[in-house]
Amino acid sequence: MVKQNGEIAVEMKHITKKFGNLAANNDINLKIYKGQVHCLLGENGAGKSTLMNVLTGLYKADCGEIEINGQPANIHSPKDAIGYGIGMVHQHFRLVKPLTVLENIILGSPKVGFWLNNKAAREEIMELTDRYDLHIDLDAKVESLSVGEQQRTEIIKQMYRGANIMILDEPTAVLTPEEAEKLFVFLRQTASAGKTIIFISHKLREIMSVGDKVTIMRKGQIVGAKDVKDTSVEDLAGLMIEGTISEVKKQSVEKDGAEVLRLTDIYTLHDDSGNVNLENINLCLNEGEICGIAGVSGNGQRELAEVVSGLRFCDKGEIIVGQKVMTNQCTRKFIQAGVSHIPEDRLGTGLAAGLSIIENGILKEYKSKPISVHGLINYKVAKKYTEEIIEQYKVKAENLNRPISALSGGNLQRMIIGREINGDPKILVAAQPTRGIDIAGVKMVHSMIFDQKAKGVAVLFISEDLDEIMEVCDTLAVMYQGHLSQKVRPSETTIEEIGLRMGGALC
Ligand SMILES: Nc1ncnc2c1ncn2[C@@H]1O[C@H](COP(=O)(O)OP(=O)(O)O)[C@@H](O)[C@H]1O
Ligand SMILES: [Mg+2]
Repeated sequence: MVKQNGEIAVEMKHITKKFGNLAANNDINLKIYKGQVHCLLGENGAGKSTLMNVLTGLYKADCGEIEINGQPANIHSPKDAIGYGIGMVHQHFRLVKPLTVLENIILGSPKVGFWLNNKAAREEIMELTDRYDLHIDLDAKVESLSVGEQQRTEIIKQMYRGANIMILDEPTAVLTPEEAEKLFVFLRQTASAGKTIIFISHKLREIMSVGDKVTIMRKGQIVGAKDVKDTSVEDLAGLMIEGTISEVKKQSVEKDGAEVLRLTDIYTLHDDSGNVNLENINLCLNEGEICGIAGVSGNGQRELAEVVSGLRFCDKGEIIVGQKVMTNQCTRKFIQAGVSHIPEDRLGTGLAAGLSIIENGILKEYKSKPISVHGLINYKVAKKYTEEIIEQYKVKAENLNRPISALSGGNLQRMIIGREINGDPKILVAAQPTRGIDIAGVKMVHSMIFDQKAKGVAVLFISEDLDEIMEVCDTLAVMYQGHLSQKVRPSETTIEEIGLRMGGALC
């Protein structure tokens, strides 16, 4: 039974939190009732985590007030929040990996003094894990646990600290469907026992199955609040993304070029290091086609990009580039076959931060003539090669011997795109190529990608920004939990349908 007018556990009033000019939370008003599972729904960047970081004292709001159990609360630090019985399980766990589960749970707990009384703590924790069916080996080292078990450790830790209001930030992102199902049972049970759960998600079905109430956020504001029993996935999808999409640009239906990429029934196995396993991916790309991959990040987009660029093996399926079967060939073979990759983490996979601009410029070519002759790098040629990239793609760089990490975000992106398209690729995998760069940079990236299209390059354009996908792409498909929807043209779908797919409500 949903209590309509029960006691209010948390009330946030007129909360505003800005980062520079960006209002991550803009005058938020939110009431959360005791004993309920209250969901916060919104696309990435909507402001959900920020709002909860304000509630847990990690961020200080620019203005606004918080009441806990009807009383004004002064929350200026996570410690204050714990004092009010608020606990949060973050998206990225905060456990100390070399320590055991038990040690992590009691670490920093106000109940434990300087001298750890492990025995008493162990008994209390065992009682807790029994009551809530949260079984785990207390003596296992955290580093040996699966992601699901680490999450359980975090939950037990919050319960042990006496959390009555528990916030879980996208908890199912890292879980298998079975683990997620168990978590839901736990959440319902804990709510029935009188605790208050704030459950952050962008997955519509989860919200429908676990929530009592749902508040929908978009671009820092609340755009809807519903009783879950009075709403539907269609309703929620519309609220989550409505209005964020500029008018859909009519795509001229062009003649399809020859096929350059074919993925057939691709599977990758779950490896417990947080990678999403791809399941039954089928996708074809033609010359001159920009195919958008939409979806909330973390649903397998990175893994897909890696499979297409030869950075990740697949366990089943076939990859054909041009006419050639390339399944599980090494990365170099993919490069030779004309696959270029702009990875999402520019300073991780894309560039070597500690190396100079020249060394980064030749990263793909350092084994080939004329840059390398008999295994030795000809620095003169390397420098010239890099200078050409810099000039052609207008990278602002003073000294090419300086580490590449000295360049600004936009210039790093120019450099990496320049390097990747300099070798005349047939396929360009662009993973979140405009994330984190300014508007001028975004325009530059788009025009570089249109130039590639004009040359007949097939582009796999991965972005979380639906506006961008609708604007830039000829075709699109949506990724959700390792599955890829069928490819369609933007004119053949609606924003609502894409939203439903992004939230996993359509398969
Ligand atoms: N520490 C920060 N510094 C600057 N900007 C931030 C910071 N944290 C969040 N943001 C920005 O605030 C907005 C909301 O982010 P967030 O609360 O993480 O969204 P959500 O959790 O809904 O995905 C985003 O545009 C994000 O880039
Ligand atoms: Mg978040």
